[in-house]
Amino acid sequence: MAYEVASIPGDGIGPEVVDATQPIFDDVSEQFGFDLSFHRYDWGSERHLEQGAMMPATGLAELEEYDAILLGAIGHPEVPDHVTLNNLLLPIRKGFDQAICKRPAILFDGVESPLGGYTSGDIDFVVYRENTEGEYADMGGQEHPGHGHEVAVQSSVFTRTGTERIVRAAFEAATEREGKVTSVTKSNAQAHSMVFWDQIVEEVAAEYPTVTVERLLVDAASMDFIRRPEEFDVVVASNLFGDILTDIGAIITGSMGLAPSANINVSGEFPSMFEPVHGSAPDIVGDGIANPLATVLSAAMMYDHLGETDASDALWDAVTGQLADPKAPRTPDLGGAGTTEDVVQDLRSRL
Ligand code: NAD
Ligand code: IPM
Ligand code: MN
Repeated sequence: MAYEVASIPGDGIGPEVVDATQPIFDDVSEQFGFDLSFHRYDWGSERHLEQGAMMPATGLAELEEYDAILLGAIGHPEVPDHVTLNNLLLPIRKGFDQAICKRPAILFDGVESPLGGYTSGDIDFVVYRENTEGEYADMGGQEHPGHGHEVAVQSSVFTRTGTERIVRAAFEAATEREGKVTSVTKSNAQAHSMVFWDQIVEEVAAEYPTVTVERLLVDAASMDFIRRPEEFDVVVASNLFGDILTDIGAIITGSMGLAPSANINVSGEFPSMFEPVHGSAPDIVGDGIANPLATVLSAAMMYDHLGETDASDALWDAVTGQLADPKAPRTPDLGGAGTTEDVVQDLRSRL
C-alpha cells in the first residue's frame, strides 16, 4: 500500500518532535513493507508573521487530498493564540469534520504518576472528546467595542448529529473495552446544552444495555480524575470539557509529553488528523529536550486508522519497552536527562 501524509510541524516544539521522529516512521515503512510518504508544510506562526496568514487560502483544499495529517503543535509567544489556533488547527478539525477526538490516558510500566501509589496499567482510560462544535462553535462577537458597554458573546452549539455521534462512538468503544461510559457535563448550570446532552446519553445508553453509565459534573470529574482515575474506562465530554480533562489525563499518567490524540473524520470523506495533546511548549523550545513519544504514539494511532495495525502495534510495543527499561534514555519531563534525539535513536533500536 502507498499512503500520502501531510505533516504540519507548526510552532515551538512542534517541529522538534515531528522532524526528529521522521526517521522512525521511515523505519516503520521499510519494516512493514508499505510506502508512506510525508509532505511537509511550513504552515504556522512564522508564516503568519512573514506573510500575514497561518496557511494559504487554498490550505484545506490542498490537505483534502491526503490520507492523513500529522500535526506537531501551534502557538507562538508573538501572535495571539486565538489568531493562530482559529486560522490553522481548529479550521482543519472543523473543516474536515473530525468530530471524534480520541485521547487515551495510560500509565505505562516504568512511568511514575504524580498521584503516587499507582503502577503500570492501573490508569487506563480514553477520553472521547466532541471535536467540531460545542463551546468551540465560534459564534458570537463583541458588541459596542470601546464604549464602556461592551458585551462579549461566546455561544455554544450542540447539535443532535454532533452529540449523538460522539456519544455513540463512546458507547461503541466501551463495548470493546471494560464496558463503562462516564459522561461529563455541567447540567446543573447549563440548562440547555448539557440537559440536551444528558437526554442523548440516555437515549443511546438504552441501545447498549451491557454498558454501565456514570454521569459526572465536570468539576467533580476533575476531582475524580485525581482521586480515583483507575475507575474510568471511556469518558465522553464536550469539546471544552474534553480539552481540560485530557490535560489532567496526561499529567496523572506521567507527562504531557506522552499523551497522543486522533481527530477522526468518521465518514472517511476527509483526512483524519493525528497530533500530540500538548502544545508548542515555549518554556522548553530550542533546548532539544521535548519528549517525542506523544508524537510517536499519535503516529501509531494514525497507522491503526490507516489499517496498518502491525505497524501501529510495533510502535506501541517499542514505546512501552523503552519506558519500562530503566537504562533507556528519557527526557526531563519524565525525570531523565536525555534529549529528544536520544529517545528517538533508542526507539529506533527497539523496532
Ligand atoms: P503546552 O502543552 O505547550 O505546555 C504545558 C507544559 O507541558 C509546559 O511546561 C511544557 O514544557 C510541557 N510539555 C508539553 N509538551 C511537552 C513535551 N513534548 N515534552 C516535554 N514537556 C512538554 O501548553 P501551554 O504552555 O498552555 O501552551 C503553549 C502554547 O501551545 C500556547 O500557544 C497554546 O495555545 C498552544 N497549544 C497548542 C496545542 C496544539 O497545537 N494542539 C495544544 C495545547 C496548547
Ligand atoms: C488541544 C489544544 C487546542 C484545543 C487549542 C490549542 C485550541 O489545547 O488540542 O488540546 O483546545 O483543542
Ligand atoms: Mn488542550
